Amino acid sequence: MTRFWKPGTENPRLLDDEEGGVIFYNTSSSSSSGYGHMNMDKQRQRLPVYKYRTAILYLVEKHATTIIVGETGSGKTTQIPQYLKEAGWAEGGRVIACTQPRRLAVQTVASRVAEEMSVKLGEEVGYTIRFEDLTNNDLTRIKFHTDGVLLREMMDDPLLSKYSVIMVDEAHERSLSTDILLGLLKKIQRRRPELRLIIASATIEAKSMASFFNARKRQGQDDEQIEPNKEPAIISVEGRGFNVQIYYVEEPVPDYLRAVVSTVLSIDDLEPMGDVLVFLTGQDDIDAAIQMLTEDSQSNRKKGLIVLPLYSGLPRADQDLVFSPTPRGRRKVVISTNIAETSLTLEGVVYVVDCGFTKQRIYNPMTDIENLVVTSISKASARQRAGRAGRTRPGKCYRLYTEEYFINEMSAYGIPEMQRSNLVPCVIQLKALGVDNILGFDWPSSPSPEALIRALEVLYSLGVLDDDAKLTSPAGFQDPMISKMILASNDFGCSEEAITIAAVLSIQSIWFSSKGVQKEMDEAKLRFAVSEGDHVTFLNVYKGFIESGKSSNWCHKNFLNYQAMRKVHEIRLQLRRIVQRLGITLKSCEGDMKVVRKAVTAGFFANACRLEAFSHNGLYKTIRSSQEVYIHPSSVLFRVNPKWIVFHSIVSTDRQYMRNVISIDPSWLTEAAPHFYQHKQLNPIPH
Ligand code: CDP
Ligand code: MG
Repeated sequence: MTRFWKPGTENPRLLDDEEGGVIFYNTSSSSSSGYGHMNMDKQRQRLPVYKYRTAILYLVEKHATTIIVGETGSGKTTQIPQYLKEAGWAEGGRVIACTQPRRLAVQTVASRVAEEMSVKLGEEVGYTIRFEDLTNNDLTRIKFHTDGVLLREMMDDPLLSKYSVIMVDEAHERSLSTDILLGLLKKIQRRRPELRLIIASATIEAKSMASFFNARKRQGQDDEQIEPNKEPAIISVEGRGFNVQIYYVEEPVPDYLRAVVSTVLSIDDLEPMGDVLVFLTGQDDIDAAIQMLTEDSQSNRKKGLIVLPLYSGLPRADQDLVFSPTPRGRRKVVISTNIAETSLTLEGVVYVVDCGFTKQRIYNPMTDIENLVVTSISKASARQRAGRAGRTRPGKCYRLYTEEYFINEMSAYGIPEMQRSNLVPCVIQLKALGVDNILGFDWPSSPSPEALIRALEVLYSLGVLDDDAKLTSPAGFQDPMISKMILASNDFGCSEEAITIAAVLSIQSIWFSSKGVQKEMDEAKLRFAVSEGDHVTFLNVYKGFIESGKSSNWCHKNFLNYQAMRKVHEIRLQLRRIVQRLGITLKSCEGDMKVVRKAVTAGFFANACRLEAFSHNGLYKTIRSSQEVYIHPSSVLFRVNPKWIVFHSIVSTDRQYMRNVISIDPSWLTEAAPHFYQHKQLNPIPH
């Protein structure tokens, strides 16, 4: 059993120890019952942020930018947009915007606010995330978005002119889109002095954010009288949600998966009713933990546990289960990636188990490879995770790391995504928004020059930027390689096929994923598999799906994720419209897979690899940087190992694995990108 202790106690004690202990949050009330029965107005007034209502509205009135720091659960996200509306910021057809880094947060927060205001979601209160728009142009006054979607809105309306206030929430996450958005909002502010910005977070370096938005210093000191004040205001909301007691492990745990399982089981044994939220790093971990827990439950009379996964690729119906009320007498255990880390309120959660790790994208501009790496979380993340327990009543958080580790080893904040990402999509986006001087762009924290230059270089070689550094292919294509493939398909006469492939590639996976049915899944895959590779296999799958009348039953029989296939269909229609606007002829190559493979090569030539001569274990090397890579087991070319391939993306676990692989003829590479390969002085390509 994993032993925990509460900091401040003499001896480390077991989990069921109730008394004493350091309390993480101050509490305004120690009672845990009754809140569920309060009416909505009372509930709203109970939130800490309520006492600051007037102060916040005053600052927003007077200052161009207001930075609001308040503990998780204090009511920032759900209350502030409502206060703004009550104060008249949505009058005269104007709209209040609030952004979140994640889709799930947008959906749940919007529906909570609609509920509090007793309006139908999609009318006065709405939300937009990619591929889902639940707003009404005439009616919507408070609108929630992912920050990426708000960026996209700038393509049509560069000054975001319909918004009176834009609240960038959970700014501490510093996602790539948040940072781009902050940089662009700062530009917009200069053109629209009447626009108000709110930057909100539980844990943010308020001072550095304030100095980023401080427009006073540049414009001189004599504008004291001009409203709004260009110097950002900072307000700190004191008071928190409910108590969350923190427990640490006595000793570092050797295996966090086992520790998670044993902690959940002891909570179930020893603690009063209440749901459990576990943070793990990714779907593999989550599946493994669920399997361990459910196996253990069967042998262990644990009929009361309802164990559910939560991660970003999860079908909607499974996601809804997580938010549905727990039946009486049962205990729900939600095992999640960090998508549940910020913004979410899971009603019944009383216990949080935090493994201390997360999966992060880390990009190395020297090798041009982006890895998903399991890394230690930051203190800010640890606080957010703990905060998921104190939302509707007091809670407990079990940290599977020592207190010493938390204090001495964990960094205060995570590294902004900007500084650890491939910047190609970001540069395209900025270019599409008319930012010409990318190197001189004012970022909240600057990306590495290597990564920026690398991105520009790739975009030139792809022909996405022309000699004047202007975008050649218009927006709508997020991934430049996919865009290039679609553009090239016009010449090859296979745009219909290219669009299908593009749609599938923009989805995480179309295969149903579940442990224990590997063999059946592989057999199902074989029904569609072709020796050319995954992309051509996708075409067969999509064809079958359409011929089945888009049947969920058919998907089920073939181990395909029905939701994912529907999404593919949806994205495909969207891409088709864009492509037509670009003047590309919609045409099918009627089964000539060679041209399809050429089109794929035209887009993905930079990801070309060659099988190492004498390699018996499927070792490939990338042509660009001689990185060692292997074909991912999920690929239909796994163990087939054709000599020359291009891949769509890399995942790295113990090795670098290529996902979505297609076999090619090496002569197509020079055909597709003579400039790129000559310029790079690469090895002559042997046949
Ligand atoms: O943004 P912040 O973390 O400050 O808080 P919030 O998301 O506005 O939520 C404030 C409180 O409202 C939560 O702590 C919950 O008590 C309650 N709430 C809820 O009960 N159900 C929701 N779906 C959302 C919020
Ligand atoms: Mg919030």
